[in-house]
Amino acid sequence: MKASTSTASSAPAHNALPPPSVTAGRSSRIAPHSHIKGLGLSSDGLALGDGAGFIGQTNAREACGVIVDLIKLRKFSGRALLLVGAPGTGKTALALAISQELGSKVPFCPMVGSEVYSAEVKKTEVLAEVFRRAIGLRIKETKEVYEGEVTELTPAEAENPLSGYGKTVAHVVVGLKTVKGTKQLRLDPTIYEAILKERIVVGDVIYIEANSGAVKRVGRSDAYASSYDLESETYVPLPKGDVHKKKELIQDITLGDLDAANVRPQGGQDIMSVMGSLVKTGRTEVTDKLRKEVNKVVKGYVDQGVAEVVPGVVFIDEVHMLDVECFTYLNALLESPMAPTVVFATNRGNSLVRGTTDIVAPHGIPVDLLDRCMIVKTDGYAREQISKVVQLRANVEGIKVGSGVVERLATEGEKSSLRYALQLLTPASILAQLGGRGQIELEDIGEMNELFLDAKTSASMIGEGAFASG
Ligand SMILES: Nc1ncnc2c1ncn2[C@@H]1O[C@H](COP(=O)(O)OP(=O)(O)OP(=O)(O)O)[C@@H](O)[C@H]1O
Ligand SMILES: [Mg+2]
Repeated sequence: MKASTSTASSAPAHNALPPPSVTAGRSSRIAPHSHIKGLGLSSDGLALGDGAGFIGQTNAREACGVIVDLIKLRKFSGRALLLVGAPGTGKTALALAISQELGSKVPFCPMVGSEVYSAEVKKTEVLAEVFRRAIGLRIKETKEVYEGEVTELTPAEAENPLSGYGKTVAHVVVGLKTVKGTKQLRLDPTIYEAILKERIVVGDVIYIEANSGAVKRVGRSDAYASSYDLESETYVPLPKGDVHKKKELIQDITLGDLDAANVRPQGGQDIMSVMGSLVKTGRTEVTDKLRKEVNKVVKGYVDQGVAEVVPGVVFIDEVHMLDVECFTYLNALLESPMAPTVVFATNRGNSLVRGTTDIVAPHGIPVDLLDRCMIVKTDGYAREQISKVVQLRANVEGIKVGSGVVERLATEGEKSSLRYALQLLTPASILAQLGGRGQIELEDIGEMNELFLDAKTSASMIGEGAFASG
């Protein structure tokens, strides 16, 4: 990486932008909400000032904190939270913060209201699928496994009995090492295929299930941890105990996964089943009957204590885009025995319910569904809060700002919206770079205002016919 930047800077191409600095290139892609790390609440659930990347919005954050607690106690499934507020006041950000507070083990399925309008799948089917994907299932199994760091991997070849040309693998010798000892296993060629598929090499920590022969790579042994830091490798310690042992394996799947696996049973690894899965790209519907079957099996597991149900969260952004049929179906889904928590967000006030011609309801949601929601409002931002968010985003995006710039952007934000102010940040930094400045100065913002318009100005200009005379 260093090498590439140095060559590029030694031969500048015309007036192209200098390549992004190494530090900016290293961090992951920056999304609009990447500064949000959680709700930023204290242990007693109070939002003291700003925290976890969230500025202000204390009431809404505390309310969401209560919901997170209820979800963790499993007391909120089958109910709904509705976030309402003007555009750019942080509704989507709040929903993401909720998912971060819940952690990665709780399924969180975001969707946008308009996603239900597909030409191939029924609207209700899309909703039903999201709801199924938001119910997690944690399966605990005790299995007999061979686990350890691979010390040896030698396939033993033999004459091919079928063709006479070439050789086939007769068996494979795998050496496994743990803290306690080592063991050499002589394994079937099918397991060798699995090993190749998982790209396992000497020095990896793996386990092989004794019954099924399934091979799983856990990570690379930390004895092999290298000094390069540009790697996506997970290093794990050498396993403890014997190589051959009973191990409790925990798998997290969702009901949606189970449905999908059952609707398209994969028959072995022969060529026909591979072809079949290529041709059948259209989404097949999971029938209600199949779902009931899956539920029955799951219930059996839960009763035996093998599995545990983890209700997750469905987040439907821009919920006013759904129509009456969807809303009625949502009512039913919310009342089903295995329902996740639902979070809606909308920026509409009173509006027509989609799919009807005369029903005007608050937020474009029929009153019977609103009845089932707890509503949380997000407030608009004061100037000072806008400037804090702008400063935060500048830090996250690695943009340097000169004196007075944040204040100027806050003024812009106050005039139009927080989002507009945030949006000016990146183009302004490019202007600054083109002008050979290391940081954004007030003049860059001034130039930005000449180049780009905010929504209100542009609408009023069209209204005045400023473009018509052209
Ligand atoms: N309180 C806050 N603290 C920090 N960043 C915020 C805050 N509120 C909003 N933001 C940021 O401002 C931007 C706009 O917010 P967001 O997308 O959540 O608005 P929204 O309410 O979902 O708007 P819309 O109704 O248009 O969907 C995002 O980049 C978001 O991360
Ligand atoms: Mg939004």
